[in-house]
Amino acid sequence: MQQEGKIVIVTGASSGIGQATKIKLREKGALVYNLDLFNDEANDEFYIHCDVSDFESVKQSVDQIFNKHQKLDLLFANAGIHLVGNIEETKIEDFEHVLSVNLKSVFYTLKAVLPYMRNQSKGSIVLMGSDQSFVGKGKSAVYGLTKGAIGQLTKSTAIDYAEHNIRVNCICPGTIETPLLYNAVEGFIKRTNLEKDTILDSLKKAQPINRIAQPYEVANVVCFLLSDDASFVTGSLYSVDGGYTCQ
Ligand code: NAI
Repeated sequence: MQQEGKIVIVTGASSGIGQATKIKLREKGALVYNLDLFNDEANDEFYIHCDVSDFESVKQSVDQIFNKHQKLDLLFANAGIHLVGNIEETKIEDFEHVLSVNLKSVFYTLKAVLPYMRNQSKGSIVLMGSDQSFVGKGKSAVYGLTKGAIGQLTKSTAIDYAEHNIRVNCICPGTIETPLLYNAVEGFIKRTNLEKDTILDSLKKAQPINRIAQPYEVANVVCFLLSDDASFVTGSLYSVDGGYTCQ
């Protein structure tokens, strides 16, 4: 579906899944703002330096976009980081940091965006969950906690804002080939002493489709959920995991 002239915010669109979604939405004619810590493109007029774990940074970025266009159509709250470790292996400062970047950031972004969408009585939002919005995984205490909570936040926000014609859905990818995946693999090597190829092979085999997916395969579904093609879809947790969580 074309998204000509739509004003879109994607957080963390300088890499991986966010970047693939930004590219696809721009191909569809949308004006896509990338709120990230670094810019992946030289001279991208739609890049805004933003730390999503800082409410003021998020609010200023969102206000700047709305003030320029007087509307805000779509949001993909995607930015996130990974952390490998069980509770004893996780330092308090790492717990606080992952909570801020992965979870508080989503609340901050919703808090900044929703008043504008409510006033215009229209909007579509996708939050970034994970297969860990449904299931637990080993050595993933804090990362899993943030993704489980995002699933819940999706449902309550979808209910609260349905009457305002705002849809809120959660995308729940399995293992996708991005820099975050390779950081996670490094973390597993440190914690388990397994070989890199062994870890990657077991991640691949855990997904019945028997491969690790590419970012565009998630971006395709995000674009569908954001679009009016998904006009009766809200509050859903949408798996893109090659069958991992249906087992
Ligand atoms: P990535 O590392 O390729 O991209 C993450 C982006 O978020 C980067 O551009 C990074 O600069 C940005 N970012 C990080 N901290 C930020 C902050 N404080 N403020 C603003 N931007 C920040 O990772 P990937 O894999 O594309 O991850 C995107 C989302 O997808 C994350 O929320 C991740 O948890 C989720 N996810 C990834 C999966 C995977 O297998 N790659 C599976 C399931 C979910």
